[in-house]
Amino acid sequence: MKYNDTSELEISLLLEAVFQKYGYDFRQYSEAHIRRRVINRMAMAGLEDISQMQSKVLKDELFASEFLQDLSITVTEMFRDSGFYRSLRENVLPILKTYPFIKIWHAGCASGEEAYSMAIIMQEEGLYDRTTIYATDFNQQALNKAKEGIFSNSMMKEYTSNYQLSGGKESFSSYYTSNYDNVIMNQSLKKNIVWANHNLVTDSVFAEVHLILCRNVLIYFNRNLQNKVQKLFYNSLINGGILCLGSKEGLRFTDFYEAYTELDKKQRIFKKKY
Ligand SMILES: C[S@@+](CC[C@H](N)C(=O)[O-])C[C@H]1O[C@@H](n2cnc3c(N)ncnc32)[C@H](O)[C@@H]1O
Repeated sequence: MKYNDTSELEISLLLEAVFQKYGYDFRQYSEAHIRRRVINRMAMAGLEDISQMQSKVLKDELFASEFLQDLSITVTEMFRDSGFYRSLRENVLPILKTYPFIKIWHAGCASGEEAYSMAIIMQEEGLYDRTTIYATDFNQQALNKAKEGIFSNSMMKEYTSNYQLSGGKESFSSYYTSNYDNVIMNQSLKKNIVWANHNLVTDSVFAEVHLILCRNVLIYFNRNLQNKVQKLFYNSLINGGILCLGSKEGLRFTDFYEAYTELDKKQRIFKKKY
């Protein structure tokens, strides 16, 4: 089996088939990311070549849904990149505080850890009662987990450390109840989070918001698609609104570079000018 011989054309035909049959559009995801996931799934399923893969994706819905899960990388953490959350507290919250109500969009929220982190910060700053957090993803399994707000106890040591490094001053354990191997996030954190299935590639603007976090998502998209999604964000943000990207993501190669100022260059936090 020589998976590495799989050509760009074969992969694009596979993605076209996925789009035509299931409506999920991965045609402009980064080639390297898609190639890795295709080769991995072919090896796991013992498939000889990509034409077998295409036929299985089209005929076997269970296999197709596993493959779709493969394409969505849901790795996340609470208070991921503590320096980012510290900057959010110091540089973004003073701006958000000036609004009578605050709408925040987590685009690509995976299993929700990022949205719970935000709810904790807004609660600590006394802003949560006037905040709505829209947390969206196109992966329904990840969203279902997010809604439950049940996470593994084994992660809490790391999350507590992230929280403290991000400037958190409370006892992190006051935000959840332990239940054997799991923890359940407090109901008070969930109350203003709206979880919704939204596809950044095929769905449109659904609200006007003051802050967008889309971290570690665009890294999987090619430049053209990044530009398209940046247009969606630009159209969703109020003037003076804030956009937060992941540590390896930026605006430089998009049409929107000039439309923002850098609020914190290192932490990839941008403010919409006009
Ligand atoms: C690596 S996770 C990032 C989670 C979180 N933002 C963080 O930084 O920890 C990437 C998420 O983007 C989601 N995603 C990928 N393509 C998407 C699309 N077209 N529309 C919506 N979400 C998408 C995936 O399902 C996954 O949950």
